[in-house]
Amino acid sequence: MSTSTSHPSDRIGALMALGAAEPSETPSQHRQLTVMFADLVGSTALLEEHGPEAFSDLLRIYHNLCTEATRTQDGTVANYLGDGVISYFGYPRGTEDDPLRAVQAAWAILQNLERLNRKLAGARLEARIGIATGRVIIHQKPGDHYGENVVGACLNKAARLQVLASANTAIVCAATRKLAGKAFDFEDLGPQNLKGFEQRETVFRLPPRQRQGPGGFARLRGERRTPLVGRDRELALLRQMTARAAGGSGGAAVLVGEPGIGKSRLIDVLRHDEAQESVRYLSLQCSPAHQFSSLHPVKDYLDWVSGVNADDPRDVRRDKLRRLFQSAWQTDEEQTAVLMDVVASSGPEQEANADIGMLLKRRMAFQILSKKVFSTAVPGHPLLLVFEDVHWIDPTSAQFLENLVRNAANHACTVLSTTRPEGPFAGRLNALGEIVPLDRLSDEQSVELARATGLAAGMDDETLNVIVEKSDGVPLFVEEYASMLAENLGAREKAEGPEERRDVPLTLGGLVQNKLDRLNPHAQKVARIGATVGRVFDLQLVRSLSALGRTTFDKALATLEAADIAHRGAGSGSQPAASFKHALVQDAVYGSLSTAERRRLHGRVADAMLSDKGGRRINAEVLAEHLLAAARNRESAEWRLTAAMAAAGEGSAAEALAHITRGLAATELLPAGGERDDLELRLRAIEGPTLMVTRGPGSPAFGTAQARALELLRGRDKPDNLIPVIYNTALHDWACGRLAEADRVTDEIFAILEAEPSDAAYLSAHTMRGLVAWHRGDNPAALEHLSATVGRYSPTLHREFYMRFLKEFGVFGQFYLGLTHTVMGNATAGAEHAKAALELAKLVRRPHAYGFALLANFVTAMLRDDVRTASRYSEESIEFASQQGFPEFLAMSMICQGWAKVKRGAIDTGIHQMEEGAGLWAMTGFENWQAYFAGLLSDAYVAVGRLADAGALLDRHDERVARFGEAQFEPLLARSRAMLLSAAGDAEGAAASMRTARDRALRNKAALWASGR
Ligand SMILES: Nc1ncnc2c1ncn2[C@@H]1O[C@H](COP(=O)(O)OP(=O)(O)OP(=O)(O)O)[C@@H](O)[C@H]1O
Ligand SMILES: [Mg+2]
Repeated sequence: MSTSTSHPSDRIGALMALGAAEPSETPSQHRQLTVMFADLVGSTALLEEHGPEAFSDLLRIYHNLCTEATRTQDGTVANYLGDGVISYFGYPRGTEDDPLRAVQAAWAILQNLERLNRKLAGARLEARIGIATGRVIIHQKPGDHYGENVVGACLNKAARLQVLASANTAIVCAATRKLAGKAFDFEDLGPQNLKGFEQRETVFRLPPRQRQGPGGFARLRGERRTPLVGRDRELALLRQMTARAAGGSGGAAVLVGEPGIGKSRLIDVLRHDEAQESVRYLSLQCSPAHQFSSLHPVKDYLDWVSGVNADDPRDVRRDKLRRLFQSAWQTDEEQTAVLMDVVASSGPEQEANADIGMLLKRRMAFQILSKKVFSTAVPGHPLLLVFEDVHWIDPTSAQFLENLVRNAANHACTVLSTTRPEGPFAGRLNALGEIVPLDRLSDEQSVELARATGLAAGMDDETLNVIVEKSDGVPLFVEEYASMLAENLGAREKAEGPEERRDVPLTLGGLVQNKLDRLNPHAQKVARIGATVGRVFDLQLVRSLSALGRTTFDKALATLEAADIAHRGAGSGSQPAASFKHALVQDAVYGSLSTAERRRLHGRVADAMLSDKGGRRINAEVLAEHLLAAARNRESAEWRLTAAMAAAGEGSAAEALAHITRGLAATELLPAGGERDDLELRLRAIEGPTLMVTRGPGSPAFGTAQARALELLRGRDKPDNLIPVIYNTALHDWACGRLAEADRVTDEIFAILEAEPSDAAYLSAHTMRGLVAWHRGDNPAALEHLSATVGRYSPTLHREFYMRFLKEFGVFGQFYLGLTHTVMGNATAGAEHAKAALELAKLVRRPHAYGFALLANFVTAMLRDDVRTASRYSEESIEFASQQGFPEFLAMSMICQGWAKVKRGAIDTGIHQMEEGAGLWAMTGFENWQAYFAGLLSDAYVAVGRLADAGALLDRHDERVARFGEAQFEPLLARSRAMLLSAAGDAEGAAASMRTARDRALRNKAALWASGR
């Protein structure tokens, strides 16, 4: 038995009627649209009765209610006309079930008004609703967001129908009634005169109740609809979860299973669950072509709600998004700016921007977006938020999703993800909530499903067995085998030819191939080109690549639909598109292409994207993949570079790195030579800084990137990036504890400085030399070089150096100069420089620099034993560093906090925190500073009698300091040793250690540690 509510061919017909293949070169579009006009009954009486103030409250309630009902059904509120509300369904993007959704919205308005009236003491709100569907012309102008420029008779018709309706009912036109399917038992009101329309039209009234029973909704996307088989347990669990969410305590779950097992189907069932009609539904779709396009599913959704079309130029898209945020979401100026930066950045053309402030912005954007998401989830009207196919999710969206999952419990919201077993969440699925695995169907269930397809009629048990066996419990395969065998059966009956049933292909690929082979060549061609483009393919693009005439093309497409291979539906923006029934079907069609054919087709797709006159925004990631598949490696790498720059510009480090890795891989396929080196260098130039910021200067990956960049640069004449790359190579050596090597590399900058003086060379050379000198314990040299940096630095002249060096020389110079003064015994000067670092950091507004400035203040305070100050700044720093994701800053702040706790007597918790911090620090690959932490920790161990631990720690670090030459901390370690020995009762040893401490301190000119304590 099929519960499908309209015949597939009806739906195809309806789609054709949409004018889906209308040329979109023209600025105006013809399109089917459903219009709902919901007017408030008796507003004058309400005003008189309740007075202006109460009336405006009532009006607001009414408007909100209509708006919510519209949006819930993915409609757009086009206008508030007096007391009435005009909504469009099918604007800016049309789908097949627009009329149905409009009816659903009307129904929700009427129901909610009833409910409201029971609560409203005294007042009664009633609506009159008219719904009409018809063709309109849309003259879309840039920035048109609410469909101000829609022209069509159905607008008037909706208004006329509204007049016919009595209080709290809705009347729909014949077209709406027909297209809405059978979800509602409409009441036929017979032919009526509508003012302004010549012909009488039969109109229908929406009944007070929705039709009961299964299959209330027509299936979207034209898929054949079979009843759900099995999955009772999973469904019960999910229903329970949404019911709990309705009560205000939300949750999260993830459906896991192999392709075609029925994850999406289960979501679909839940979505159309009539028992849960108050549930609002929002679905975000991840895509294999955008695995490294940061926030792709979110941006895609925002584009959709704000009416962005694929061919909108960048600034039009920005305008539309801004309007969505400001008008519909009512974000303030700052929030709007943050959202615009994060979700509407200008894309590939945007300059790579290493400013780490983006990371902070992203977190703010997450907050605004999640708040927005959760604000629509209210008890009684819970939200079902779905992330489909998170095995393809991009890293930033993954973060966002995890965020939502963590917070779902406090809202009337269920966050549901679907994933195949692979992908970024593999191995840590519980980050997505409760894990709901979907297993294969049992043999009985497979038979049930095969029968349910309606295709098994006339099949004997043997045939059914073949289906069960071959499909192995995967529902998608059951459907496909059933359909193929049914066709074979039909063919046999007609031809009474030889038994074909035995030649059953073993794989889905074979099945689809089989199906494809039976189709006419045009349909095959369209399918193959479509499969090259993607799961969803733009019809205009595929048609132009197929070189078929419009009629032939449309016929070919209809053939694919009838064969249940692909179906028309909305693409992005207003572009007509089609999508393969299932990703595996697309794979199978694609698999039927030879390598040479693939290469050729991908090349043509890429060319079409590149030469698109429609001005469509190019997705660099998608294009790069097509180019790679076309073996156009150089171009592919170029576009990866573009994608990487855009990602870095948005602060999406993980995405940027993924593009770089792929770009480098494409580069490696090029013949050796200048062109290849050039490309690699450009990729490395983004890789280095991105790694340094996210993984710290000690990370091996950062070192490798720098070394390779340097190698490439050395071979060329006067490269402009040379100094920053040398500087960062030295920085990496320093971070890895190779102080002598760092000094040697710094010599190169001094040589450049001598040959060709520049502020860049001056600041970087002196900063690096001072930094290394400080750790080697050569405080006078540190003083000299860091003073040189601080003396030369000017924020106006040198602020922009940050972009190339990723170092704010002014702030960093003040920081280490403050340390130097403190160690040399001038604590006051040390504190002043730390303060100056903070002032400067505020002025230059670079988060990384601000992090350093906080460090400057609490480390100098620790050195001079100022617990209060150290504690205050490290507290701020912990917060800041964790927000920004600066691991080494966070580590140091934790150590300081632990140290302060120890000083205040909470020794055990303090020790614990210090150990944690030191562990985190070591994990970033940073060798320096560890001896300092060890000294502090040893003192704390001694205080609680853990002498053996202290001894082991000091031994280890004495050895390390000797190995690395980090002599600055020798006196400190010797003093800690003295403390340990004295606690162990070895007074003589303690005294000897104190002498060593003093000797080393004097040698270092470190007055701080030269005196007895
Ligand atoms: N329990 C079921 N009863 C009836 N039909 C089912 C069932 N499970 C899946 N199907 C059908 O099988 C096909 C594939 O299912 P679906 O698209 O949900 O797979 P999926 O797990 O989401 O796969 P993917 O990982 O590729 O997205 C669909 O046509 C769906 O309607
Ligand atoms: Mg799916």
